[in-house]
Amino acid sequence: MERYVIRGGHPLVGEVTIGGAKNAALGIIAAAIMTTDPVRIENIPDVTDTEVLLKAEKGIGVKVDHEDRHTVIIDSSKLNSTFIDDEYMKKIRASYYFVGALLGRDKRAEVPLPGGCNIGVRGIDQHIKGFRALGAKVNIAHGCISAEAKELHGAHIFFDKVSVGATINVMMAASLAAGRTVIENAAKEPHVVDIANFLNSMGANIRGAGTDVIRIRGVERLHGTDYAIIPDQIEAGTYMAAVAACQGDMVIKNVIPKHLECITAKLSEIGCQITEFDDAVQVTRYEPLSSTQVRTLPYPGFPTDMQPQITVALGLAQGISIVTESIFDNRFKYVDELIRLGASIKVENNMALITGVSKYTGAGIVAPDLRAGAALVLAGLAAEGETVIDDISYVERGYEDFDAKLRDLGADIVKVSSEWEYEKTKLRLVE
Ligand code: EPZ
Repeated sequence: MERYVIRGGHPLVGEVTIGGAKNAALGIIAAAIMTTDPVRIENIPDVTDTEVLLKAEKGIGVKVDHEDRHTVIIDSSKLNSTFIDDEYMKKIRASYYFVGALLGRDKRAEVPLPGGCNIGVRGIDQHIKGFRALGAKVNIAHGCISAEAKELHGAHIFFDKVSVGATINVMMAASLAAGRTVIENAAKEPHVVDIANFLNSMGANIRGAGTDVIRIRGVERLHGTDYAIIPDQIEAGTYMAAVAACQGDMVIKNVIPKHLECITAKLSEIGCQITEFDDAVQVTRYEPLSSTQVRTLPYPGFPTDMQPQITVALGLAQGISIVTESIFDNRFKYVDELIRLGASIKVENNMALITGVSKYTGAGIVAPDLRAGAALVLAGLAAEGETVIDDISYVERGYEDFDAKLRDLGADIVKVSSEWEYEKTKLRLVE
């Protein structure tokens, strides 16, 4: 089992380049099979989640050619099944995008029920409501969701809850439904917009993505395209929070500063200096942090995917901070691990009451999910002494070259995959 061994206490200084948005890539990789023409996609992050999705496509006869590490050409002209094998898929949440994609393309799909990070109950009722409104019969049995329709037709859909996944999934299927679909109470996240732009570049007719009403005029077919995925808002935000937690001076390149505004605003409020450039942000922090209140909300609010990272920074801020999680019901599981590093945090239902401490101290901890895992890495980097983090496969689902990028910024972090390698790091620690 791989683990990170971190010797904390070094400010992070230098430049880091952000990759393509993982959550946009997952939708785009799935949507790419909605045409029989080849689709070329640039800026796909090389992380486990995208790898799993591409592997699943190969399993149903799709040709996936890697032009380079971040560019693939997907050719689904020989797609031979609308059943996705659960060997790959049950582990990741984004498996559900194949329902929208295949239902649109072939009017039928059967996909294992989504897995993914264990961050609370993650319903799919809004996805099902949307597919049914488009005329599909949807059934859940034997751990799979299946959907089927003779014809899909446009519909007026009002989501009861803002859902990124349901918005994207219904947008995909509706692109190839007859007539007009209106999605109200739609999610507005940057990757919803990116996937809409991708579908439009394939000939779809989607308007209003990025607002809470999306209007889709169904088309008969989609065609091939050449598309580059937007930069990852959450990867960028994680490096920004790293400066807040560890101190330092970092230029974060290849970002869309507009997408980071909710994070920039909070980090400025607690004492970071942030300068925005056209496609970069510079974050500096050497003075003590001050406390604040944070509530996670759908975009453009503060992202739930940044909640653990900001909590780690606030754990070191002077005074009492409150973080309220309003999207998922079980996203504070990492707090017990953070307490092992010396944090003073009480969790009551969906609220964390944080009393800032002057420092964290290293310990052995476990990453409970993707973003929490990344946040615990930040805590380890800020902590005095050695921190060892187990179960880092979670982190590798969404962060490309995390340890290498952090080393380039002056962090002392190594990835080890055996006891022997771990023993070797001890020599490094006594140097
Ligand atoms: C996406 O998950 C992201 N995953 C998540 O990122 C992210 O945390 C989340 O959006 C919120 O921004 C992907 O894009 C693959 P939702 P998703 O549907 O689509 C409830 C990461 O770390 N809900 O917006 O699954 C749901 O339970 C991951 O990269 C229903 O009740 O999130 C949750 O409480 C983790 N019924 C809330 O809505 C539904 O049918 C928001 O979920 C759908 C959702």
